[in-house]
Amino acid sequence: MTTPFKTILGIETSCDETAVAIIDETGHIHASLVLSQIEEHRAFGGVVPEIAARAHMDHLDTLITAAMDDAGLSFDQLGGVAATCGPGLIGGVMVGMMAGKAIAAARGIPFIAVNHLEGHALTPRLTEAGEGRDLTFPYLLLLISGGHTQILVAEGVGQYKRWATTLDDAAGECFDKSAKIMGLPYPGGPELQAIAATCTDPASALERFPLPRPMVGRKELDFSFSGLKTAVLNHVQKLPEGELSRKDVADLAHAFQTAMADILSERCERALLRFLNEYTPARPTLVVSGGVAANTAIRAALETLCAKHGAAPYAPPISLCGDNAAMIAWAGLERLRAGLTSETGDPLDTKARPRWPLDETAPTRHGAGVKA
Ligand code: KG4
Ligand code: ZN
Repeated sequence: MTTPFKTILGIETSCDETAVAIIDETGHIHASLVLSQIEEHRAFGGVVPEIAARAHMDHLDTLITAAMDDAGLSFDQLGGVAATCGPGLIGGVMVGMMAGKAIAAARGIPFIAVNHLEGHALTPRLTEAGEGRDLTFPYLLLLISGGHTQILVAEGVGQYKRWATTLDDAAGECFDKSAKIMGLPYPGGPELQAIAATCTDPASALERFPLPRPMVGRKELDFSFSGLKTAVLNHVQKLPEGELSRKDVADLAHAFQTAMADILSERCERALLRFLNEYTPARPTLVVSGGVAANTAIRAALETLCAKHGAAPYAPPISLCGDNAAMIAWAGLERLRAGLTSETGDPLDTKARPRWPLDETAPTRHGAGVKA
């Protein structure tokens, strides 16, 4: 039996979420399941690659079956299988990639190798399609996640220009490490946001805990976050010994989140001005995506910035900011439609890539947390 619209199964296993989704070319999400491994990694304060790979192995088959049941579809009705082939933790990537290849081979449908970052980059086109709209290229993209912090121009499917990356930690990594210093559990980003919201006197919190804004004012667009994290550590070390009070943490979290929002919006403002100048888009759009795009203070700062320059801000719904497989299935569909993956699919000997830049021409930066 065929379905009226091309339907794609997506598989995501590059970090600590096992995710499976089914979408179609109208942007309809038939099923989207995300199984977080947070509990399995929490005791270690971060993701343990070997534990992640084994957990993907344990749960992926069940999740695929559950997603097919949710969608009410059979494998015969799929027009392709897209799986993340990098960048990410290689053991986990291999688990999802091999499952995708096996389904494609068994069913005689195309296998589509997807770059995880392209999944984040194209998410707004999925959600816009779902609303019956089209987000046209080019658009400016701030990609902020646990492993990446980049500014790119999305010129088309498979066509990206990277204008900035981090020279050390990624934004999400800085959230997580700073949260850990404040005694908050892993993953720190959402915890830090929640406690910052309880800060009762934001103005005095900023005075109590002054924090640097590394790279702000610099002409080049890159990011650096390790100094911000160290400054958080210095403040904590100056506080009286013992456990921090709730007020201390709320104030420091607010100061940190404000610094982060300031840094990201200053970097994006420079990039937006360059984008307007070089591309003169009819309807300039600034997209923010990746796990950290769930942060409300950052979303608000970018909205203000866009209003100032007549650009349209775009952030995916929270459920599609973090890692998910709907974005992988959609990126696969876009690649198939654009002819970047042939109708018979990508080769079944496609390799998993721990490092896979979206813009292969951009110079490599040798900092921690820079995987692309
Ligand atoms: O995109 P993602 O799910 O995984 C990667 O590809 O890295 O991003 C995860 C990151 C983590 O660092 C997490 O702390 C951060 O996104 N994050 C947030 C928030 N929600 C998730 N950071 C700040 N505020 C949030 N609300
Ligand atoms: Zn991600």
